[in-house]
Amino acid sequence: MDDRTLFCRQLAQEAGQRAHVGFGTSPTSMKGRHDVLTEMDAAVERFIRSSITARYPHDAVLGEEEGGSAGVAQAEWLWIIDPIDGTANYARGIAHYCVSIGVLRHGVPVIGALHDPSHERLYIAETDQGAWMNDQRIAVSPCADMGAATVECGWSTRRTTADYLAMVTRVMNAGCAMRRAGSGALGLADVAAGRMEAYCELHINSWDCAAGIVLVREAGGHTNNFFTGDAVGSGNVLVATNHALAKPLADAIGVASLT
Ligand code: IPD
Ligand code: CA
Ligand code: CA
Repeated sequence: MDDRTLFCRQLAQEAGQRAHVGFGTSPTSMKGRHDVLTEMDAAVERFIRSSITARYPHDAVLGEEEGGSAGVAQAEWLWIIDPIDGTANYARGIAHYCVSIGVLRHGVPVIGALHDPSHERLYIAETDQGAWMNDQRIAVSPCADMGAATVECGWSTRRTTADYLAMVTRVMNAGCAMRRAGSGALGLADVAAGRMEAYCELHINSWDCAAGIVLVREAGGHTNNFFTGDAVGSGNVLVATNHALAKPLADAIGVASLT
């Protein structure tokens, strides 16, 4: 694996250990309605940023809490970090959150690392090197039947309740079971590891999914072309699943294509 991949995995491991110290206890404030911030979000992002900058001073960094400098999307190497994904779970003591670190090269996601410290699951993927959890190769579900598929429908206040419920209705009318667990990044890890068949969200930010997209693709799965337009800074729709369900799910949700 690439030097950056090994560093990324180690960094996610250490950042997750740091985050877990405050699990369920870190003081919270609100960034918006149902948008929780704990003091650990900022602290863990600072740790990740300073580690990247010390090791790769010419690489660009974009993080959920501190943002990124102008033009990061054009950088050769761009690290996209979510110090804690699933913060609402984290603050409530629900063990479903992770640290997410993705790396883009010339705008293409090439490395992804996720650490779920509650379950000691460390995920890593690099383009053409496969997807791994704790040194075991992982693969997406082989399920080809919408009637047997479980789909996580991610939710945030960035889209209307009506639009969210319409997506859920379409997914369920297509025969799928639906869940929502509150961490987009871990939802993608669940797809990559074959624990559920798909993750979709009408709008998700790049720091939630940069790492998970690499995991799903390297686990043999398929995602829409998330990193188009200004998705690095503004987010996009996301559908991630296996190849067999890509078309029926895209048709059900109304995403034009999963290229
Ligand atoms: C959120 C979670 C959630 C997803 C949202 C994200 P946060 O991130 O990943 O599951 O549906 O789109 O904003 O606030 O926990 O870092
Ligand atoms: Ca997030
Ligand atoms: Ca976050």
